[in-house]
Amino acid sequence: MDMVGGGTTGWYPVARAAEVGTTPVPVGAGGRSYVVVRLRPHGEVTAFPARCPHRLVPLSAGRVEDGRLVCPAHGWRFDGEGRWTEVPSLGADGCPPPRADLRGPWAVEERHGWVWVAPEPTTGRPPRPAADPRPAPDPGPPVPAGPVFDNLAPALEHAWHPVALSRELRPGGWSQVRLLGCTWNLRRGADGAVAVEPAAFGVRERLGLIWLAPAEPADVPLEVPEVGDRRFVAGWLPPLRSPGPAGPLADTFLDATHGPFVHAATIGAVDRTEVVPGEVVREPGGFSSIQEQWVDNPVDPEVATGGRPLRQRRRTTYTFRAPFRMCLRQEFLDSGAATTLLYLLQPEDLDSTRVYTCLLVSAGPGQPLPTPAWMAEQVALQRRVLAEDVRSQETLAVPGLPLDPRDEVHVPADRLGLALREALCDFTVAGRRRHRAA
Ligand code: FES
Ligand SMILES: [Fe+2]
Repeated sequence: MDMVGGGTTGWYPVARAAEVGTTPVPVGAGGRSYVVVRLRPHGEVTAFPARCPHRLVPLSAGRVEDGRLVCPAHGWRFDGEGRWTEVPSLGADGCPPPRADLRGPWAVEERHGWVWVAPEPTTGRPPRPAADPRPAPDPGPPVPAGPVFDNLAPALEHAWHPVALSRELRPGGWSQVRLLGCTWNLRRGADGAVAVEPAAFGVRERLGLIWLAPAEPADVPLEVPEVGDRRFVAGWLPPLRSPGPAGPLADTFLDATHGPFVHAATIGAVDRTEVVPGEVVREPGGFSSIQEQWVDNPVDPEVATGGRPLRQRRRTTYTFRAPFRMCLRQEFLDSGAATTLLYLLQPEDLDSTRVYTCLLVSAGPGQPLPTPAWMAEQVALQRRVLAEDVRSQETLAVPGLPLDPRDEVHVPADRLGLALREALCDFTVAGRRRHRAA
């Protein structure tokens, strides 16, 4: 490694100047991780920290637009000094907390054909590099400093977890599943009952899924009235595996601000980024909240005939039950149609979460039941939306959901995200109590 100085002081050659353009390049200097980028074609090089302060998304996935670095997750924009210039969820007049600014290295300089970074104040200028300098390896974006809620959190033992669709286990059949870093064998007897090995507190079926509780759980069921409502037709998405922990994925499902950015190609209303946060109502085992926003509704049949505009007002009632059960009732206020989405997560391993998604669709009062063709269209749309969410998780690359509010920067639209973190803190404390009592 070529450098001048030691530890985090001194100048580090991080990339050939010719290889740095308007696409952020992840680099390492002094054991720290940064991205270097030109905010204008052929302009000077700027260095930013590796992660966005909001939800810790690696800025190597960001893009340059109008001389700003734009984070791909919620569209926060930063200028060459690292100062935020726009937080879309706040609207034009919003003012985020000072911690929203990026803290880059002390200096970055282009010299002798190389980009040099000095993480801390140092003396002198970057030297002429050795004939073939070897930049330090990028240590990767730093993980949060405080505790995170990961897929092996001990409290998770004391909960019901979905482990398979009921229809995945036929009478007389068996299946191996992963849960909390262990393998479990499920077997369905000829009488239809499901047994599990090794022994667990229990196994049961509910909402079309098989659920497993390794140890005595806190049992606060997620109520879904649409399941017994004859105006609703149900459709399941094929279960999907997300290569990361369940906590950040739950955070995404509860987040109303990522739509215009992560879902720009499907349902995100890219010119409606401001989010007025709804109140959060604490409830046993979780919380609920109601939120209204503008979205595109391409599967509304009236859109194709010109009876209604594509852009529609939607009210969403979010219900969360720890650890990873979410119900989003989306009501389209113009048509009266409603789609309820169930997201139920199986924490398999540290880096693997299985996602079960059920759609319950109603065409609205006085309307006929959704046809199979319409359901197929809805399921196809939600599969694309879910794939976008899972792709954003691949980029995120964090070990779990940060529980210390100081590890991220929160704005008013993040109310549900904060409530999620609090609920998982409460869940952790309750789990510890149960563990001690056992
Ligand atoms: S804007 Fe960067 S993570 Fe939210
Ligand atoms: Fe999403």
